[in-house]
Amino acid sequence: MGERRSAQWYGGNDRNSYIHRAWMRRGLANDAFDGRPHIAIANTASDLTPCNAHLNDVMESVRDGIHEAGGVALNLPVVSLGETQVRPTAMLWRNMAAMATEEMIRANPIDGVVLLGGCDKTIPSLLMAAASVNLPALVIPGGPMKTGTFRGEPLGCGTDVWRLSEETRAGTMTEEDFFLSESSMISSSGHCNTMGTASTMACMAEALGATLPGIAGTSAVDSRLLEKSVESGRLIVEMIDKDLRPNDFLTKGSFHNAIVALAAIGGSTNAVVHLLAIAGRLGIDLTLEDFDAIGSRVPLLVNLQPAGRYLMDDFQRAGGFLSVLSQVKDLLDPMALTVTGRPLVDFLDDQKIWDDDVIATRNSPLVAEAGVVVLRGNLAPDGAVIKPAAASANLLQHRGRALVFDSIEDMHARIDDPSLNVDENSVLVLRGCGPRGYPGMPEVANMPIPKKLLSQGVRDMVRVCDGRMSGTAYGTVVLHVAPEAAANGPLGLVQTGDFIALDVAKRSLTLEVDEKELAKRRPSKAMTDAFAKPLRGWERLYVDHVQQANTGADLDFLQGSSGDQVSRESH
Ligand code: FES
Repeated sequence: MGERRSAQWYGGNDRNSYIHRAWMRRGLANDAFDGRPHIAIANTASDLTPCNAHLNDVMESVRDGIHEAGGVALNLPVVSLGETQVRPTAMLWRNMAAMATEEMIRANPIDGVVLLGGCDKTIPSLLMAAASVNLPALVIPGGPMKTGTFRGEPLGCGTDVWRLSEETRAGTMTEEDFFLSESSMISSSGHCNTMGTASTMACMAEALGATLPGIAGTSAVDSRLLEKSVESGRLIVEMIDKDLRPNDFLTKGSFHNAIVALAAIGGSTNAVVHLLAIAGRLGIDLTLEDFDAIGSRVPLLVNLQPAGRYLMDDFQRAGGFLSVLSQVKDLLDPMALTVTGRPLVDFLDDQKIWDDDVIATRNSPLVAEAGVVVLRGNLAPDGAVIKPAAASANLLQHRGRALVFDSIEDMHARIDDPSLNVDENSVLVLRGCGPRGYPGMPEVANMPIPKKLLSQGVRDMVRVCDGRMSGTAYGTVVLHVAPEAAANGPLGLVQTGDFIALDVAKRSLTLEVDEKELAKRRPSKAMTDAFAKPLRGWERLYVDHVQQANTGADLDFLQGSSGDQVSRESH
């Protein structure tokens, strides 16, 4: 059995190895235990994660590739999170999925793992898990769905739900038409077809070097996804032979590349939290400031919803992710490796852009400086982020009176009240939505525009929140405010009527209330009453240990790695 990890289970000549082999003989032949690498396919296919439901087909192709290369492929269903399905919010369960997957990778007799993800939280949780075990691993992103149309117009899954529902609230679309569009919104298997969080995290996995180069963005219904899955199956066997592990290719340089890519594609702000969490598992010193320092001056090259016009089908047709990276090659770390053992930049030379309306060239970017901007100030001492490319240019420097909501429920109860004291210059503040406060940091920061302003034609306002925003959403939204209100952050001290000043160019977010007055307000109702600590279960563990958004909202005891060894055996 050589030095393989799986030989610790199968390679002996004793009662325990007998047990391990005997129970696996249902389908495995005798030569499966002759030194071949055993590879788990960590599979997030689930009927309740509709974006990943096709991953069993992908798994079969990976299995073919592994077998062709002489490995033994083993399907390992792992915790799956359907963004639209699980309550109260999928982010509450990301760390649980990562922890459970990490433990199952470590606990089982495997030499490497192929990670099948798609819907928003699945690729982050898989990468966090694999990083903490550090066995040879690669990601296969499940790919976006094909574009659906409604009355001749393409539908951006997610983004157009927000747009159409706002039009309905504004009275420019009938309710009947809104519900008629429902059956056109999701047109095939695969994840959301905008540059939302799922598409972004597929690109992040590739930019990190964790996928076969050229796979991110391949549609879930494109035969090339299965072809690349077979190739990925062969590749994981090679990686095991070369002992190529996440620690070898997930380096500070690969995170640098991911940040550059995030800006160039106009990716989701959720990637900030996920990349910080993955880096935390590897002990890489990645900070919120790195996103601003590395990414904020990178040009936006991808004209996809929510920041732009097109969808993932168009992205692939126009050249795909590698063609974007080829435009910013000089900004990438030339040493950062991929799962192939070769640097990412090696794959960029022959990339072409076939439609420069979808993927702009470096010489004529859509926005000259587009990455995530990190804001600081007395309202966000540990930072907050804004995505200028999805914001209104005229609001990037703004001063207005706060209108405060203490919870999502409070916001829903009052936002459409005709007597709400609000105008287009108001700054909407929503708190109680951070990792601890909700708990789970939901995607609610892009609060709806009050109905009375919508009917006046207002479509964007400055909004400030300690929660997250859907990757498919847009607007001038300051999010991930840290510390959150429920962790004694100053967001809990804001009162309706206070002035808040946002200056994106100066990276500042200021509550114009002096320190003396803030001290009098402390501790506020929002910091105490609004935060009801859960009594038991995962939620209790989560609120007791979750970190703030500026470090990735992982649990404190999950940061770092435990390696792949299990020293005890109970048989
Ligand atoms: Fe799964 Fe959007 S709901 S990717």
